[in-house]
Amino acid sequence: MCTPAGVRLGGYMLWGTGATVGPVGEAFDIVRSGYDRIGVRYGEWSSASPTRLNFVRRRLRELTPGSLVVELGCGAGEPATRLLAAEHRVLAVDASLAQLRLAREAAPTAALVQADMARLNLRAGSADAVASFYALGHLPSHEHAPLLHAIAHWLRPGGVLLTSAPLRAGDDRDKSWLGVPMYFGGIGETATRQAIESAGLEVEEWQVVPEDEGDGKTVRFLWVLARKPQFG
Ligand SMILES: C[S@@+](CC[C@H](N)C(=O)[O-])C[C@H]1O[C@@H](n2cnc3c(N)ncnc32)[C@H](O)[C@@H]1O
Repeated sequence: MCTPAGVRLGGYMLWGTGATVGPVGEAFDIVRSGYDRIGVRYGEWSSASPTRLNFVRRRLRELTPGSLVVELGCGAGEPATRLLAAEHRVLAVDASLAQLRLAREAAPTAALVQADMARLNLRAGSADAVASFYALGHLPSHEHAPLLHAIAHWLRPGGVLLTSAPLRAGDDRDKSWLGVPMYFGGIGETATRQAIESAGLEVEEWQVVPEDEGDGKTVRFLWVLARKPQFG
């Protein structure tokens, strides 16, 4: 299922998540149109990442089969959405319809929603896990901490956040990233940790992993597993 960005889902119930979305911002539009134009190229460029594959495979074991997993910025769905949806109920959100169409092929059983992850509202305690890989780095910096707080609110006690977060702090527009204008934002490692912990999540894995981006460039992401305490 795809719904237009910025449109309230009208109380539509996605396995009891009560998902609704609010109006979108300028950064979202840059990212949405960029990934629409990028199409299959992002997946072709990034699909070789062993870090994401290893993290998802290893951390999938945290989840009981049939868990409700909310994936933010699912992109083309390969490999994360596909692996998650093979065992779990997945609500996958992305800005770009072109990416969601690809995700539908990769993970036909996932519920797909076009929305700004920073404006998504889910029912408190409705998700067993929230996953987001290589996507938070497209959010404006002022949206990072509120989103991490919202994620903690959506998770049930014992639920987990699985993510790769950007290390850089600040906001940036690139005129030509993979050939299209793109928006990047982040709050850096210390503020990300503070936001996760002040949201009430307990960090169980925290690793900076360098990856080869091609053309001799190395990119570093923060790989995180944080859990909402069972009793808080
Ligand atoms: C770098 S790609 C990563 C895709 C996928 N998670 C993966 O690992 O291959 C980032 C994705 O996040 C989506 N995205 C970025 N900002 C978003 C936002 N505010 N709301 C929803 N999706 C967003 C983009 O459309 C894009 O598909």
